[in-house]
Amino acid sequence: MEFSIKKGPLAKQKTACLVLGVNANKKLTPAAAKIDKAARGTLSKILKRGDLSGKSGESLLIADITGCEAERILLVGLGRAGDFDLKTFRKSVGAAAKKLNEIGVRNALSTLAAVAASEDELSAAIVEQVVAFDAAAYRFNELKSKPSNAKLTRAGLWVEDADFLAARDKLADAKALAAGIALTKDLANRPANHCTPTDLANTAKAMHKDFPNLKVTVLEEKQMEKLGMGSLLSVSAGSRQPAKLITMEYYGGAKDQKPVVLVGKGVTFDSGGISIKPSPKMDEMKFDMSGAASVIGTMRAVVEMAPAMNVVGVVPATENLPDGLATKPGDVVKSMSGQTIEILNTDAEGRLILCDALTYSAKFNPAVVVDIATLTGACVIALGGHASGLMSNDDELADDLLAAGQRSGDRAWRLPLWDDYQRQLDSNFADMANVGGRAAGTITAACFLARFTKDYRWAHIDIAGTAWLEGGAKGSTGRPVRLLMEYLNGRLGSGD
Ligand code: BES
Ligand code: MN
Ligand code: ZN
Repeated sequence: MEFSIKKGPLAKQKTACLVLGVNANKKLTPAAAKIDKAARGTLSKILKRGDLSGKSGESLLIADITGCEAERILLVGLGRAGDFDLKTFRKSVGAAAKKLNEIGVRNALSTLAAVAASEDELSAAIVEQVVAFDAAAYRFNELKSKPSNAKLTRAGLWVEDADFLAARDKLADAKALAAGIALTKDLANRPANHCTPTDLANTAKAMHKDFPNLKVTVLEEKQMEKLGMGSLLSVSAGSRQPAKLITMEYYGGAKDQKPVVLVGKGVTFDSGGISIKPSPKMDEMKFDMSGAASVIGTMRAVVEMAPAMNVVGVVPATENLPDGLATKPGDVVKSMSGQTIEILNTDAEGRLILCDALTYSAKFNPAVVVDIATLTGACVIALGGHASGLMSNDDELADDLLAAGQRSGDRAWRLPLWDDYQRQLDSNFADMANVGGRAAGTITAACFLARFTKDYRWAHIDIAGTAWLEGGAKGSTGRPVRLLMEYLNGRLGSGD
């Protein structure tokens, strides 16, 4: 989707659909009032009739308005005038994007950013629109012989003259974010036969070609063996696709500034292994690399925005399949940390690859490490699709991530990581078991990871419920790229 910032006389703007805001109690926004004037009060008349009250989420399409060049006008409810509430604005923009997509216009011009009363509000208004319009036009078409692309391909964002330059500046960042989200969706939506660990590694390497300041390194199984990653390799043992450990390094900040390290679970297909999963809905386990996809997508957004900070992405990528060489329940393996693990359930594989990737991450001397993983079905039961599960060994980090989730609408909810849960992982045969029973399954998975992250500030985000949608709308949500980018942006200039 193409975006541009527009200014100048509104009535003269040629567009297939002009998007105008209406506040609660049928109050036209200043931009809408301009068109109303040019159209000799037609909009006021329509509002008076009561066809739209101005509540957020409402919209009304009207055509053939005289006095302006737009072919159609979409009136969009914005809620109460005056105080710019991001949540309400997001809802309004979402409704507008959905409607434009339904109407099937090829281009549109939105005036909704013009309600912003400060530079922060302007930034937010641009980001929300770019993300929402881009998401509405997103299709995963690469494997269809007759792709059905969205009609909407161009969107203009109209602002007052004084805001033009600031808006253009912000548009670049917003587009980078949208591209990161779209890449995450593309990777996650790709079926496992089109998205192997090698494919993920190639995607990362290709990113280095487009953005040479992104350093990409791919470790092969031989090198992982040398590093002692017996836990990660125990998961790939039953697969014919070789595992890869992908690192993406971006250094935009001072040399002595410690990086944020993002670690993403990259199980490109999770059959469960010998502890095989039931068949229904097993196809959804192609999404089990959504954490990896979100890390790669976030790195994509970061390198394009080129902020003054250091960020490293680490992706352990493997399939989890059963064959004659596959790990068996009861097998004991040794992790890179030296700790041994009794694998009681080969379907609890995410933690087995993450623990070695987390141990490996210490080499970057991180300020913080955040791992993102579709780790437990229990998290879907606990939080559903609304919030990701957040667990951390550091209250400040947890608070920052929760706040970033609130601001961006890509929310997380914290669960406790108390030591009391640790004994559920006791094993008679190794330092720990890889499963802790049905009770508090999301927390015991995090407790397992916590044994490998004692040396740094760390948070774990379980996205099992938020990474994809089921049913008719089956597909990746691109979460939690927005949360991660909001968190990273919040760190800019914070000094640590
Ligand atoms: N990838 C799954 C978790 C998952 C399940 C994500 C359903 C999304 C939807 C993970 O590898 C897994 O299989 N976890 C097991 C752990 C259990 C064996 C302790 C689970 O949640 O059942
Ligand atoms: Mn599993
Ligand atoms: Zn899994």
